[in-house]
Amino acid sequence: MRTYYCGELRKEHIGETVTLYGWVDRRRDHGGVIFIDLRDRTGIVQVVSDPQRTPDSYELANTLRNEYVVEITGRVTQRPEESLNPRIPTGEIEIYADTIKLLNSVRKQLPFQVSTADTDSVREELRLKYRYLDLRRDRMAHNIQLRHQVVKAMRRYLEEVEGFIEVETPILTRSTPEGARDYLVPSRVNPSEWFALPQSPQLFKQLLMVSGFDRYYQIARCFRDEDLRADRQPEFTQLDMEMSFMSQEEIIELNEKLVCHIFKTVKGIELQRPFPRLVYAEAMERYGSDKPDTRYGLELVDISDVVKDCGFKVFREAVTNGGIVKILPIPNGNDSISNVRIKPGGDLFKEASDAGAKGLAYIRVRNDGEIDTIGAIKDNLTAEQKQEILRRTDAKPGHLLLFGAGDTATVNKTLDRLRQLIAREFGLIDPEKINLLWITDFPMFEWNAEEKRLEALHHAFTAPHPDDMSDLKTARAQAYDLVFNGFEVGGGSLRIYQREIQEQVFEAIGLSPEEAHNKFGFLLEAFEYGTPPHGGLAYGLDRLVMLLAKEESIRDVIAFPKTQQARCLLTDAPSVVDTKQLKELHVTSTYKPKS
Ligand code: AMO
Repeated sequence: MRTYYCGELRKEHIGETVTLYGWVDRRRDHGGVIFIDLRDRTGIVQVVSDPQRTPDSYELANTLRNEYVVEITGRVTQRPEESLNPRIPTGEIEIYADTIKLLNSVRKQLPFQVSTADTDSVREELRLKYRYLDLRRDRMAHNIQLRHQVVKAMRRYLEEVEGFIEVETPILTRSTPEGARDYLVPSRVNPSEWFALPQSPQLFKQLLMVSGFDRYYQIARCFRDEDLRADRQPEFTQLDMEMSFMSQEEIIELNEKLVCHIFKTVKGIELQRPFPRLVYAEAMERYGSDKPDTRYGLELVDISDVVKDCGFKVFREAVTNGGIVKILPIPNGNDSISNVRIKPGGDLFKEASDAGAKGLAYIRVRNDGEIDTIGAIKDNLTAEQKQEILRRTDAKPGHLLLFGAGDTATVNKTLDRLRQLIAREFGLIDPEKINLLWITDFPMFEWNAEEKRLEALHHAFTAPHPDDMSDLKTARAQAYDLVFNGFEVGGGSLRIYQREIQEQVFEAIGLSPEEAHNKFGFLLEAFEYGTPPHGGLAYGLDRLVMLLAKEESIRDVIAFPKTQQARCLLTDAPSVVDTKQLKELHVTSTYKPKS
């Protein structure tokens, strides 16, 4: 029987005889004495075998290779002075192995070195194909355990302190409208009809409020068929919550306490409450983003009013067409950022044009105070206009000012991306800083230029601000997002709970009463039977854990993630299925491979 996990052993265990199970992380032969680093999920401990002190284990110890699975029994012993290892928690002791049992060996060449001592970076495709080996590695084992700790802290707090109950909601369901594409599942017994996998449990959790459960949560798997990025997976996990009879302030306060509890239990960090807040309009104005990273400055400056009548057509027309002209001021940017990078072909230009910008104008304030800029600004802005721009941006010698001009969304997107890029390049981000920030007062709707209609910014069940009911189209929503170091880690809202308002919102987003009835008749009907005022929130668990683990991709905190191409390399899914299966499901493929 196991007496301890490897990583648990310390000085106070000296003298005890222990039995350990684990994998051979490394085996070293030091002139006839064999050292084995034995690893399990808690860490590593050094095991020693030599022909004099432990003759019974020596022969087998000699045959062990990396990743063999063994049972070891032996005495915990103080390491001699010269072999103390302060880098690992078990570094003061070692185990003299009286017996070693080989439980299983490795029969094939390992696709990569698993050993903690091996810091070589392994290609991600290989790691994902052999994920079970990758998960043995220290970093991944740590991340997965951290994830467990976070979920445990969430459950404990919500259940034991706040009285929430967990309820499971269906996976085979109707499409839930979170705005992404659905994953669909054909129904065998209902020919030509389809289930959708939930993009979130949104409608069910609202119905649970109608049922009176009052405080619900769920660690909920969600599915969204959208383009993948480092912080997006096709299936991901939310901590999903819904509460009745609480105001926005009360929901925010409860959630701040929850987040503080998570940080305290998992990282030992005491966060200050209340968390700072920004209203959406101010976040967009100052940072060009509704999820600004506020660990550093580099705030944007709007100069639309300065250039609205100026001689430079690009600036003037941007403003007269209803757009804006904004500046990203970069202290010390003059010396470090060359024109080559700002002009077509340069990396900053590319970043801007990827965001939709047509050009990237600039002003440099040379170190001697001289102004250097593109011809169009030099020739077409008056001295006063140039002076006002320098004053507004607080430009000093050494500053570089980058301009965005055009429609508001594109300008903000461009300067937000440049701001982040420059902050990383200039080392302005303190990795130890934790910035948690609420964004509130989102608009209810945004304009979808492609479909030429308003669409709900959060989702169609979000309640409008009571002061803005006279014009729903421009109303603010009672919605709130939690931003953690520039990532949206959570979002929620107070919900509509009156049928008439829900119908008005459906109408505003262009859903006819018939469509609304077809899609959400069950919800509208439920609203007729005594629905309490309610609201909720969902955290992206993967993103939260990614940030707590200081990883750059959520793939590194998910045990079995998909690739950027939405594939599972381990099981090679998705895969072709038998024609028979398709037939039973009444499905045929229209796909024609390109020849
Ligand atoms: P929302 O769509 O904002 O809200 O999702 C909530 C949080 O889930 C995370 N998230 C994702 N994480 C990984 N991969 C994805 N593809 C992905 N999409 C979203 C984000 C986000 O903040 N029903 C509402 C919540 C509510 O109103 O209660 C909802 O799903 O961190």
